[in-house]
Amino acid sequence: MDGLLERTAMCGELRFADVGKEITINGWVQRARRLGGLVFVDLRDKTGLVQAVFSEGAREDLFAKAESLRSEYVVGVSGTVRARESANPELPTGEIEIEASALVIYSEAETPPIYVKDEDKVSEDLRLKYRYLDLRKPKMQRNLRFRAEVCKIARDYFAAAGFTEVETPVLVKPTPEGARDYLVPSRVNPGNFYALPQSPQIYKQLLMASGTDRYFQIAKCFRDEDLRADRQPEFTQIDLEMSFVSVDTVIGIQEGFLAKLMKDTKGLDLPLPLPRLTWKEAMERYGSDKPDLRFGIEIVDISEEVAKSEFGVFAGAVSAGGSVRGICAPGASDLYSRKDIDKMTDRCRAYGAKGLSWLRVGEEGISTSFSKFFGEHELERLVSVFGAKKGDLVLIAADADKTVFKTLGFLRLELAERLGLIGSDAPEVYNFLWVVDFPLFEEDGEGGITAMHHPFTAPAPEDVPRLASEPLAVRALAYDIVLNGNEIGGGSIRIHDKNLQHRMFEILGLTEEETKEKFGFLLDAFRYGVPPHGGIAYGLDRLVMLLLGEESIRETIAFPKNQAAEDPVSGAPGVAGDGQLEELGLALRR
Ligand code: AMO
Repeated sequence: MDGLLERTAMCGELRFADVGKEITINGWVQRARRLGGLVFVDLRDKTGLVQAVFSEGAREDLFAKAESLRSEYVVGVSGTVRARESANPELPTGEIEIEASALVIYSEAETPPIYVKDEDKVSEDLRLKYRYLDLRKPKMQRNLRFRAEVCKIARDYFAAAGFTEVETPVLVKPTPEGARDYLVPSRVNPGNFYALPQSPQIYKQLLMASGTDRYFQIAKCFRDEDLRADRQPEFTQIDLEMSFVSVDTVIGIQEGFLAKLMKDTKGLDLPLPLPRLTWKEAMERYGSDKPDLRFGIEIVDISEEVAKSEFGVFAGAVSAGGSVRGICAPGASDLYSRKDIDKMTDRCRAYGAKGLSWLRVGEEGISTSFSKFFGEHELERLVSVFGAKKGDLVLIAADADKTVFKTLGFLRLELAERLGLIGSDAPEVYNFLWVVDFPLFEEDGEGGITAMHHPFTAPAPEDVPRLASEPLAVRALAYDIVLNGNEIGGGSIRIHDKNLQHRMFEILGLTEEETKEKFGFLLDAFRYGVPPHGGIAYGLDRLVMLLLGEESIRETIAFPKNQAAEDPVSGAPGVAGDGQLEELGLALRR
């Protein structure tokens, strides 16, 4: 390139030991300012900042050029590293500066619409629209590098454990993860559509039928679902499948990976084996299938204590087959006024709760929202069942179990947040656990049942006899890995028996034709010899988010979609031209 000053050093890496060296750096102008006969330029590349100094006395043309520099100009600077008169302890390069002897301006820059610095308080919309500027920030560059490091650790670990990296197609038949599909019209087959894969699930199972034995992929997945801080329409999985394995083998290999990941990225020794909770226990103790165990506050079942009480809400819930349970928040009594509790009750309605009962242990004794139905003795009994002390607040939900768990699961997190129990004195706590023995099915809300994970998940062998009679009681050979209250991965041992797979589809209400149309190719493959197999997929974006301490997976993705599933940089999705639609045999409905 014409006029290129060939780089010999990185801005952020220069140190006192480099004093006296002739170097060339390339980068962006963070800031340029004139002070008397000097121009100071902070130059930035992906490694950080360093100060270059141009002096009027040295060379006139060079000084004039330096004076013309503005933020975000791209330049090359050559010069000598020298010690600074007054060091800047804020900067790793703060002990030195470059005494500049040459300057090339590669590219001028208009005033950028967002400042390129980490602590900038600009809206996320603007950040995403000018993502190429946003990504210049040191924090974002660090996030991209960290994500790449996680991918490399995964590749290295699984390659060493005998996994073969295989790419699977992106234009596929719909996959069964349960979200809405993105469809792609086929020009060659008018009226027909590919789906973008929600995961490589079926293909990785076909690879097991192909004798690949251990498969690995860092795979793009696509799900047309509502966006949240931890959900994107296109996201990435670290995806795995293994032949001839039990749940324990799959989990053991994953624990090795997680331990290496924590060691290499954080220098932490992950104590193995990781704790395991059954799904039932997780729900009963924490009201969640992805419980955050960085703090206590366990759910207490008081159904027995209150079943015969005069309080209709409690007694009624128990007699209707539900339960009465609560949580005790230490020291929370003063934090929540009645009004606060009312507000919280309103928020609980989103989880189906019709109301909340409360109990406080105050200076003047016990007060509750249900005092008139309980004698002093009975109240003291409840206080002791909850282990409540002076200053504690107990919140109680009475309803169907599902509603009680959801409500208390929400309240547990809410209270812990308010009480500062999460990560305040130890932000770098990484609490991993496995949740195992998930139910195979769940109610679909329309009177039917649906697969909790996906329809290829194997039932626990001892529960198979109950498949027809009590499907909701059947446990699955499925496991989720949870980190700090987030589901970072999930998987299962699969069904490899084609008759059992057929029965599974039947129970899920798929007709013979539907089964054949949707999954016939997998069942066909199972006719010619298939090994027992199982696997798992991690949500890479979520894993990286948690390890970086970020609040949103968008901070870990170079070009994420916004809340409206748009790419704000390019403006996608866009309108298709008439010619394109015609070629595809499509017409838009007005
Ligand atoms: P599952 O659907 O549980 O399993 O997905 C695995 C992991 O992917 C992450 N994830 C997401 N991350 C960001 N945005 C999304 N929209 C999103 N959806 C899911 C989660 C989740 O734990 N084929 C199975 C895996 C298997 O059985 O082996 C599957 O896809 O962290």
